[in-house]
Amino acid sequence: MAGSHSPDSSRPEPRRVLVTGGAGFIGSAMVRHLLAESRVEVLNFDALTYAANLLSLESVADDPRYRFVRGDVRDVGAVGAAFAEFKPDCVLHLAAESHVDRSLTGPLAFVETNVVGTAVLLQAAREHWGRLPPAQHAACRFVHVSTDEVFGSLGAEGKFRPDTPYEPSSPYSASKAGSDHLVRAWGRSFGLPVVVTNCSNNYGPRQFPEKLVPLMILNGLEDKELPVYGSGGNVRDWLFVDDHARGVWTAARRGRVGATYLFGGGAERDNLSVVREICALLDELRPPGASGPRERLIRFVADRPGHDFRYAIDASATTAELDWRPRESFTSGLRRTVQWYLDHEPWIEAVRTGAYRRWMEENYAWR
Ligand code: NAD
Ligand code: DAU
Repeated sequence: MAGSHSPDSSRPEPRRVLVTGGAGFIGSAMVRHLLAESRVEVLNFDALTYAANLLSLESVADDPRYRFVRGDVRDVGAVGAAFAEFKPDCVLHLAAESHVDRSLTGPLAFVETNVVGTAVLLQAAREHWGRLPPAQHAACRFVHVSTDEVFGSLGAEGKFRPDTPYEPSSPYSASKAGSDHLVRAWGRSFGLPVVVTNCSNNYGPRQFPEKLVPLMILNGLEDKELPVYGSGGNVRDWLFVDDHARGVWTAARRGRVGATYLFGGGAERDNLSVVREICALLDELRPPGASGPRERLIRFVADRPGHDFRYAIDASATTAELDWRPRESFTSGLRRTVQWYLDHEPWIEAVRTGAYRRWMEENYAWR
């Protein structure tokens, strides 16, 4: 299989899309996007770790174009079976251990899933697609969904670009950097038609409340403390999750083999400002009563070790090539997000009590 490195807008549309990690925050948005915006068939391949929530896919569970398989990307047999049975012509690889703080307390799981799991998938794609007649190669794509954290920390100035050198800080970002290198190596060495995307911080409905935005929303609703690491001056570039899903699908359909595309929200905020915006929205939409405005709950706590100071994306090359740009502003997206959590107390309750996990085990244990 030889990978082409020139744009190919005439290439056939993918028809069968294997989404790994499709029960996670971004993966579930990806699955919903594919089913709503395209005619493809979707196989969601997900191990259902703590971060998965099939409640996020209830709206598509009965769609005849959607299937779910519980499987682990580290499992050579399970991945091979998924390729043999589903015969995907496109892989959107999102399965990962995704939380930086967890990578500081348990880094090995990150190496196993993010590095080894990616290698297993690449090898399965290579073997499966290598058996196809050459005419069918043109439609195939392996899109690796990665993070801007691989580039390390910015100072007060500058933005990440596709050619920014890698300088990861945490076990999470190092494991994602390793997986990016593997993906490119399978492209260069074996001609696998790969595309890498690196994206900034996502936020939106259905995000597991270990990440900053949902943690602050849920704690604020419960009148719990709002832990801000260090001085709260670290900066992130926030992108609404549906904008990311649309970007990944555009990269899969229109992206050049071997290319890297950066996605960002053009919405840099320091963490303290984000937390204050959330407090203000909660106060407006769910007035706090006698205890007073929720900003009183903010607590400055010990900083995250190796805490990257600033991330910012220069997405101009992606916009120029793929005509992609974010549709949601941070102000409107954050309001939508807070409102979604207010409107979905059963979802919050299922996550808080762990009922979402019991429900998944009862419904999917046999697969
Ligand atoms: P998430 O933690 O919400 O979901 C991860 C999903 O992967 C879960 O459904 C989990 O069950 C599944 N998974 C984990 N280990 C697995 C394994 N061994 N085999 C099969 N499935 C497994 O993650 P997310 O925030 O939705 O991130 C998705 C992807 O996007 C990740 O690759 C992440 O690195 C990348 N990314 C995330 C962000 C962000 O802000 N969240 C930004 C840029 C890139
Ligand atoms: O940049 C993309 C990355 O964004 C993704 O690759 C990761 O998967 C995703 O988790 C996210 O990483 P961050 O570490 O930036 O996200 P998190 O929500 O954990 O933290 C955002 C910022 O808020 C960060 O500077 C740490 C800070 N923080 C976080 C938490 C959970 C706090 O101050 N307090 C908190 O309680």
